[in-house]
Amino acid sequence: MISPASRFSIPGTRYLGKNIYHFHSLHSSNLELLSDNNALYTSGDIVLADEQSAGIGRYKRHWVSHFGGLYFSILFEDVENLTTFYPFVILCALAVRDRIADLSASRREICLKWPNDVYADGRKISGILVQSRNTGELSRVVIGIGINLNNEIPRDRELRNPAVNLAELSGQPVDISSFFSGLILTIDSFYHDFIQGKFPDFLPRLNQHIYGKNSFFKFTAGNRVLRVRALEYTKLGHLLAEDDKGKTLSLSIGELC
Ligand code: BTN
Repeated sequence: MISPASRFSIPGTRYLGKNIYHFHSLHSSNLELLSDNNALYTSGDIVLADEQSAGIGRYKRHWVSHFGGLYFSILFEDVENLTTFYPFVILCALAVRDRIADLSASRREICLKWPNDVYADGRKISGILVQSRNTGELSRVVIGIGINLNNEIPRDRELRNPAVNLAELSGQPVDISSFFSGLILTIDSFYHDFIQGKFPDFLPRLNQHIYGKNSFFKFTAGNRVLRVRALEYTKLGHLLAEDDKGKTLSLSIGELC
């Protein structure tokens, strides 16, 4: 077992990040929390890595995790109902979006691309991977977030999607630890609202920043690539979208996990 370099907390949070385990280098922060054989971590704990040797993306793709980016995962134990929990992941993406927008030049368009990506002027800047394991009736859920901050974006090979980092958007290097603590405070406050049943209050903001309202975009769902135009988020955390034949679809994150 690799040991964390340090453990710290972020003052002012209610639920998350009471214990933040910081590793200089790790295989994958999601894997570390999912396969916690020594039961070291408890709900709300966060694993943070400066770099990952085997970062995982959606559909088991490799998530390039070089030094300079932000890579962390949050643990939620004893989740009773995954379907009702998933909309919270959309709020995590909104928190990432807001934090990026705060630090970007004002003319940049920072959007939420279904299911949980953040795009800046059409280029991917962040992705989220939710993974879960059944523990009897309950689930152990890990939300893993990767954000391009100061890490170099490979240009020498074809990326599936064009990517960008926040340093380029803001025109200066990003202070990773202050970005991280601000983001955790926001995610923590969104979590507070979420467990009070306030997800619908976020709909105007979610719908304001939706990606692909005016043009069709592609995303992978199971073994299909769907081409849709986004219409709106619903109070259940679904995305209403229109396919290229004009049929309305209701997309849910649960179908993708
Ligand atoms: C995607 O495919 O867009 C999701 C990428 C998620 C990457 C993050 S980085 C922190 C956490 N640890 C991982 O191995 N993956 C997630």
